[in-house]
Amino acid sequence: MSQLPPPSSTSTALITGASSGIGIELAKLLSARGYHLTLVARRKERLEEVAEQLSGDGKPGADVMVCDLADPEARGVMVGTLLGGAREVEILVNNAGFGLTGRMFNNSAERHTEMIRLNIEAVVDLMDRFSPGMVERGRGGILNVASTAGFQPLPGMAVYAATKSFVLSMSEAAHTELDEKGVVVTALCPGPVRTEFAEVADLSGFEANTPDRMWMEADETARIGIEGFEAGKRVVIAGNLNKISAAGGRHLPRWALLPLVRGLYGRN
Ligand SMILES: NC(=O)c1ccc[n+]([C@@H]2O[C@H](COP(=O)([O-])OP(=O)(O)OC[C@H]3O[C@@H](n4cnc5c(N)ncnc54)[C@H](OP(=O)(O)O)[C@@H]3O)[C@@H](O)[C@H]2O)c1
Repeated sequence: MSQLPPPSSTSTALITGASSGIGIELAKLLSARGYHLTLVARRKERLEEVAEQLSGDGKPGADVMVCDLADPEARGVMVGTLLGGAREVEILVNNAGFGLTGRMFNNSAERHTEMIRLNIEAVVDLMDRFSPGMVERGRGGILNVASTAGFQPLPGMAVYAATKSFVLSMSEAAHTELDEKGVVVTALCPGPVRTEFAEVADLSGFEANTPDRMWMEADETARIGIEGFEAGKRVVIAGNLNKISAAGGRHLPRWALLPLVRGLYGRN
C-alpha cells in the first residue's frame, strides 16, 4: 500500500525540472497514479508540451509554472502563488538540478553559485515552505533527487558531488524527523542516466570512460524512484551496479577511493 497521500481535487504534486529527462518521467508516473501536477522549469514550451500530454481524456491534468529556481526572488513569487492557490502541495518532487565537470579552479565562480542555488538552496527553500503544511495536515511526500555522486567526493565534479551529498544527508535526516508526522521523505540516487544532463555538465570525457551497462534510461530510473517513494523508503539507489558503486563510495577509505575516481571526469 502506498505511504503517500492519495490524489485529490484539492491537492497537487509539484515537480521541479519537469521539462526534460527524469522529471518528465516522474511526472508521467505520478499522473498515471491520478495526481494533479504542477510542473516547474524555465522552458515554457517544453513544460506546456508535457502538460498537454498529461491532460484531457480523464487524466488528472497539469499546471505549468515557469520559474528560474536558482533565483530566490522568482522562487518566492512561485511559492507565494502556490500557497495562495486552490490546491495544497501534498507531494513535492525536488528534481531540477545540473552538474558541472572540470577542476574547481577552471570553472566559473558564477556557475558554481548558480549550481549551489539550484541544487541546494532551492531544495531546502521548497521543503521549508511546503513541509509545515504537510505536517499540519498529517500527510505529504517529498522526493529529493540526489545522486550516487553524493556518496563520495568526486575530483573533476567536486562542487556537484558536494551538492548531492548535502541533499542526501539532509533528506535522510528529514526522513527521520517527518516520519512520525505522516510525511514521507525519500532521496532518489541515480547513477548515470541518459538525459540532457551530460550535455549541460559537459560530461563527454566521462561518457567515453563509462561502460554502456552503467547507463540507465530516465523512465526506468523514475519507476524505481516512485516505487521506493510509495514504499516510504529513506534512500533509493537506482540499479544494482549503482548500489555497488554507492557502497564503495560510502565505505572505502578516502586514501584508496580518491585515486580511483580521480580520472573519471577527465583531467582538464
Ligand atoms: N542524468 C544523470 O546522469 C543524473 C544522475 C544522477 C542524478 N541526476 C539528477 O537528476 C535530476 C534531473 O536531471 P536530468 O538527468 O533529468 O537532467 P536534465 O535532462 O538536464 O533535466 C534537468 C531539469 O532541471 C531543470 N532546470 C535546470 N536549471 C533550472 C533552473 N535554474 N530553474 C528551474 N529548472 C531548472 C531543467 O529545465 P529547464 O532547462 O527548462 O529550466 C530540466 O527540466 C538532477 O537533479 C540531476 O542532478 C542526474
